Amino acid sequence: MDTLRDDVYRRPLATALDRLGVAQGWRVVDVGAGQGDVSVALAEIVGHDGRVYAVDSDPLARDETAAAAAAYSQVVALTQAAEDLVLPEQVDLAFCRFLLLHVVDPPTVMGRMASVVRPGGWVVAQEPVTSAGRVGGAALSMPDARHPDVGAELPALVRASGLELVDAWAEAPAGAGPGPVAEYLASLTGVEPGDDPIVLPPLVTVLGRRAG
Ligand SMILES: C[S@@+](CC[C@H](N)C(=O)[O-])C[C@H]1O[C@@H](n2cnc3c(N)ncnc32)[C@H](O)[C@@H]1O
Repeated sequence: MDTLRDDVYRRPLATALDRLGVAQGWRVVDVGAGQGDVSVALAEIVGHDGRVYAVDSDPLARDETAAAAAAYSQVVALTQAAEDLVLPEQVDLAFCRFLLLHVVDPPTVMGRMASVVRPGGWVVAQEPVTSAGRVGGAALSMPDARHPDVGAELPALVRASGLELVDAWAEAPAGAGPGPVAEYLASLTGVEPGDDPIVLPPLVTVLGRRAG
């Protein structure tokens, strides 16, 4: 998927969307949309007959997503807390990436996402296990995140929300020396890794399905 700009985690996203078979005309929500990278990727796939609700609790994120998605009339940017998620229609897919590690109560948000999908629709989450990242062989940590290893809990969260657990797996970008992986790590931690080998935090992807 070439639409993901400079996103080092584009491969796990492409894997998940391919695995799901997201297609033209789908109605989807990207919860915790941030700067809109995932929303734009989804908009490319669902096309002008589809709809992408890009939801974020930060009004600045809504503005950034609206700017990133200016060419896509199918993107509707909303300011809303994931805990209060309400949409004007049921969707085929509720998606989040790098959201649940920041929220107060991940089960509440997973439950809200499950509540907005149609019967037979999908809930997909991609969240990290930050302590499994490595820089020069040492464990990475993200002490600022509320739930830095929430990725490891995703399959259980899906089941606890009453969804069928269809699939789950983990993927991590890795590298050494200059390049996008080193740049991403520096932006995340403020530390330049030099030539140290890096494994970025693995993202666990979980595919949950609402009973049809
Ligand atoms: C690390 S960014 C991830 C952005 C995007 N999902 C991505 O993968 O590129 C996390 C985003 O979640 C938003 N967020 C955090 N807590 C939230 C909540 N309770 N409800 C909705 N959005 C929230 C933040 O404002 C931020 O834009």
